[in-house]
Amino acid sequence: MPTDSTTLALEAGLDPARIPAHIAIIMDGNGRWARAQGKERLEGHWEGYRTLKNTVYAADALGVRYLTAYGFSSENWVRPEYEVDGLMNLMLRAMQAEIEELIESGVRVRVSGRLHELPPDLRAEFESAMERTTHLHRMTFNLAINYGGRAEVVDSVRHIAEMALRGEITPDDIDERMISAHLYSPHIPDPDLLVRTAGELRLSNFLLWETAYSEIYVTPTCWPDFDRDHLIAAIADYQRRVRKFGAVVE
Ligand code: IPE
Ligand code: IPE
Ligand code: MG
Repeated sequence: MPTDSTTLALEAGLDPARIPAHIAIIMDGNGRWARAQGKERLEGHWEGYRTLKNTVYAADALGVRYLTAYGFSSENWVRPEYEVDGLMNLMLRAMQAEIEELIESGVRVRVSGRLHELPPDLRAEFESAMERTTHLHRMTFNLAINYGGRAEVVDSVRHIAEMALRGEITPDDIDERMISAHLYSPHIPDPDLLVRTAGELRLSNFLLWETAYSEIYVTPTCWPDFDRDHLIAAIADYQRRVRKFGAVVE
């Protein structure tokens, strides 16, 4: 019988009752990792893919219900064409290679971002992965691709404006809940924990709306070197935080 997440969390020194339901990760530092190894940047991205795979299953095993990973930002298009093409190819190959195991593991796949701007074959692969896993509920793996936090809010507001134009709502009906409900992945709760690797202290346009009350954990470790122990360290740090949401907590 597989060890359950409560046992694994306890063995890792974590409180099983306070595992963050949703962890969001800015997977940064692939390029720096590659340079330090005397390798091409794209080799760093391929190593990053291996890390992401391990992280999804490690998080699932510890009882994390939602994992969002920042894979390609709406700003990353300005990188050299060679790197952008290499990343698109990597995402296509990775999704093709992983989808069966994800399904077998009960993982629901979501992709957040402006998918219509992606190469058609990659978009089709993502749409197929979402469709094939829509009934799975063990864990949700949400990939942020061609994702921008500001673009996400703009897209939500556009939907709402169209509803207003059709006379379905009035401006007074617009509230935080309505804006949240029109974001890319409305059924995923806001992240409890935001992890950024490779040390930068910025959000880089990631989940601007959803991270209003997320706990932030930054590690100097570059993404390809991030492993289960780093994940456990991030969750342990999270479990030492006092979440106040504006209230007075004695
Ligand atoms: C993160 O690694 C992956 C993507 C942004 C696609 P980087 O490629 O940004 O790595 P650094 O920041 O150059 O080290
Ligand atoms: C954020 O990393 C985007 C992803 C991890 C996909 P970047 O490397 O693009 O962020 P900046 O440019 O350092 O802010
Ligand atoms: Mg970077």
